[in-house]
Amino acid sequence: MVRTALVTGSAGFIGFHLSRRLLADGWRVIGFDAMTDYYDVSLKQRRLEILQGSDSFTTVEARLEEPGRLTELMAEHRPDVVVHLAAQAGVRYSLEAPRSYVESNLMGTFELLEAARAYPPAHMLMASTSSVYGANTDMPYAETDKVDTQMSFYAATKKSNEAMAHSYSHLFNLPVTMFRFFTVYGPWGRPDMALFKFVKAMREGKPIDVYNHGRMKRDFTYVEDLVEGVVRLIDVVPPAPEMRDSAIEGDSLSPVAPWRVVNIGLSQPVELGDFIAAIETAMGTEAAKNYMDMQPGDVPATWADTRLLTALVGELPATPLAKGVGAFVRWYEEKNWD
Ligand SMILES: NC(=O)c1ccc[n+]([C@@H]2O[C@H](COP(=O)([O-])OP(=O)(O)OC[C@H]3O[C@@H](n4cnc5c(N)ncnc54)[C@H](O)[C@@H]3O)[C@@H](O)[C@H]2O)c1
Repeated sequence: MVRTALVTGSAGFIGFHLSRRLLADGWRVIGFDAMTDYYDVSLKQRRLEILQGSDSFTTVEARLEEPGRLTELMAEHRPDVVVHLAAQAGVRYSLEAPRSYVESNLMGTFELLEAARAYPPAHMLMASTSSVYGANTDMPYAETDKVDTQMSFYAATKKSNEAMAHSYSHLFNLPVTMFRFFTVYGPWGRPDMALFKFVKAMREGKPIDVYNHGRMKRDFTYVEDLVEGVVRLIDVVPPAPEMRDSAIEGDSLSPVAPWRVVNIGLSQPVELGDFIAAIETAMGTEAAKNYMDMQPGDVPATWADTRLLTALVGELPATPLAKGVGAFVRWYEEKNWD
């Protein structure tokens, strides 16, 4: 039986990689994306063209928050699984354009939840972020930690998404898995993120902006490793409270809903300075550095506790930083993103 997945944000960085993987695994994929101009639309277009090379891929260009649009789509295609990745992403941009986070992340996710209430999929999986851990200082971050101190409006909308999905999961018995992704990188990556910005600046012989003087730590996660985690979690449906027979230590399952949140990260935090050194090695050139203070909304470190992830789906592949950064640099040079 061919299964159907609705992937929102399919022309985005992670949505593209996930859709490509699902198509390769024999799924039918309905890709939903508004092709927003937050960053270079031609990059989204090129990702989409690759997906359109498969007969099992159907693309829909529309906004999440368009009232009733997702409900119509779910009625038409009745997907087995929904993976919700479309969002207004980015910590820094949420100081400039907070309204777009309300529209895409709050209104958009609401429309998707309403669609799922009308035509429930067997499992709905949604992207949250490590940024919801906010000002927490206990590391590594575990799913059962309190998350009440978001430092950016982006993170606040993602925390709201977790709560919104929890209420629908409880009220309508909708199985939901929330992912908290930790800094994802790799080929076809986002131009607003450090790796893309650094490689571009270095190719142009310009200095790179190094926030927090290079002392920031991030749990960089290679996109294909992350996608492997997402794919494995599709078949790990959170059980309803009355259906549970055994408990996993540190599980984040809700006591009142088939809802769970899972960190997806490598659990190997790297200092920004070491990340830059890996780029310099891959490019064979040294970057001119413009050292700067921390930016508003940013957190000094992220580090994923991945024990729950491992308990649910086993060890994920762990691409070493040098290999992952090398793959990005090769992609960037081959595709001429300058
Ligand atoms: N990349 C990371 O490091 C990272 C880390 C944590 C969480 N996340 C989350 O993972 C998800 C995917 O991130 P990404 O890096 O692929 O981002 P991305 O910006 O590349 O992809 C998001 C896609 O959603 C689409 N979109 C945005 N608003 C929309 C709307 N209102 N209606 C329809 N489509 C809309 C965009 O056109 C884009 O193609 C997001 O929810 C993001 O918040 C990403």
